[in-house]
Amino acid sequence: MKPTTPPKTYRVKSFGCQMNVYDGERMGELLAEKGITPAPEGEDADLVVLNTCHIREKAAEKIYSDIGRLTKGKTQEKAPMIAVAGCVAQAEGEEIMTRAPAVSMVVGPQAYHRLPEMLDRAVKGERATDTDMPAIAKFDSLPKRKRRSPTAFLTVQEGCDKFCTYCVVPYTRGAEISRPYSDLLDEARKLIEAGAREITLLGQNVNAWRGEDDKGRVAGLGQLIHALAKLDGLERIRYTTSHPNDMDDALIAAHGEVEQLMPYLHLPVQSGNDRVLKAMNRSHNAESYLKLLERFRDVRPDIALSGDFIVGFPGETEAEFEDTLSIVDEVRYAQAYSFKYSPRPGTPAASMDNQIAKEVMDERLQRLQERINRDQLAFNAASVGKSCKVLVERKGKHEGQWLGKSPWLQSVWFNDEAAIGDMVECDLVEAGGNSLMGVVKSRADA
Ligand code: 5AD
Ligand code: SF4
Repeated sequence: MKPTTPPKTYRVKSFGCQMNVYDGERMGELLAEKGITPAPEGEDADLVVLNTCHIREKAAEKIYSDIGRLTKGKTQEKAPMIAVAGCVAQAEGEEIMTRAPAVSMVVGPQAYHRLPEMLDRAVKGERATDTDMPAIAKFDSLPKRKRRSPTAFLTVQEGCDKFCTYCVVPYTRGAEISRPYSDLLDEARKLIEAGAREITLLGQNVNAWRGEDDKGRVAGLGQLIHALAKLDGLERIRYTTSHPNDMDDALIAAHGEVEQLMPYLHLPVQSGNDRVLKAMNRSHNAESYLKLLERFRDVRPDIALSGDFIVGFPGETEAEFEDTLSIVDEVRYAQAYSFKYSPRPGTPAASMDNQIAKEVMDERLQRLQERINRDQLAFNAASVGKSCKVLVERKGKHEGQWLGKSPWLQSVWFNDEAAIGDMVECDLVEAGGNSLMGVVKSRADA
């Protein structure tokens, strides 16, 4: 590659999970420290970071078509500098470098703190790949958080040791690591100073977080939440995504004890059938999962439950799929995500016999989503007539319209005077599948 002038503007395109959104924001902050500014909406950027996801579908192919679109008909001088980050970078870094000469940097999810150095080299014309997994080092070398926003993500844990047979995450994000307690409290304080009223704790297995508190005691996520709740100005705490096997008593109890902990739980089950769960290496069964949810409902009866499902795992029969429908009927999720099984190269399930035909998966997914949508609408409809606090996150589509979240993570919109970051008390007056309409009753801030 020829040397080029240093980029003045950047754009980070993040795909996939909230962890990627967090990583994308941190990469933006690293670039901002070098004096590079976000490209204005609708304008081309000098540097594009494709922050990729590898969990499903033909993610890698999508990268190549994005790269093609960014460079089509352009000389190296005119085309943006391209960095590929995220889980596809981790899994297929070398291949990307070979197949896409327009890419100057490939950086894995545990190495992106070194993006600025890589950029200096790229400007000199050197292509660089960094997919090391030094775990915690990344967080120590990230810049201070400055972005002003009422809601913020805070990564507390990364990686996964569970090795569900369908999943690529243990290979792309590496082993489970927990960030130290004091680092997390410091980062939370900074987020609050920068205007955060709600913090969502992130981790691939967020409830596997373990640390040592300020008195040297072993702490889990429940204890960490108690400590965060003591920080002045933090009004809402959420966490995602949890694994059933990592749940402990303290975290469940926290839902009944900590007022700031929002009544919402995302706890993926993946399937309602025990044979399939075993083949997935989930190490919980349908019954133990349901018992766990009961314990949450005991301490927090209004808790909104959410989950993830995979249909068409290799060998899944019609009867086994119906067990998944049954568990949905039993739980009545407030909201849930469902996916068609997608073979991930290198994972055990990808080479299992009896891969399910696409048409069968399509049909199962549709039936599952009908039930999930039914329950989501019912959950929202049951909120009508209640009033709740709404944290305003953004403007709505129409003039004078604002959008925010209820404690149960429902989107609530209303027409009134407001500003981003306001906490308003709304009467919930009308429900749709994806949102509720509110009428401002009082200003919790006033
Ligand atoms: N195919 C389909 N869905 C998957 N997920 C993870 N791996 C796969 C796969 N290979 C889903 C799981 C997980 C969510 C983040 O993505 O439901 O909980
Ligand atoms: Fe993937 Fe299973 Fe780990 Fe979740 S727990 S990240 S599904 S391997």
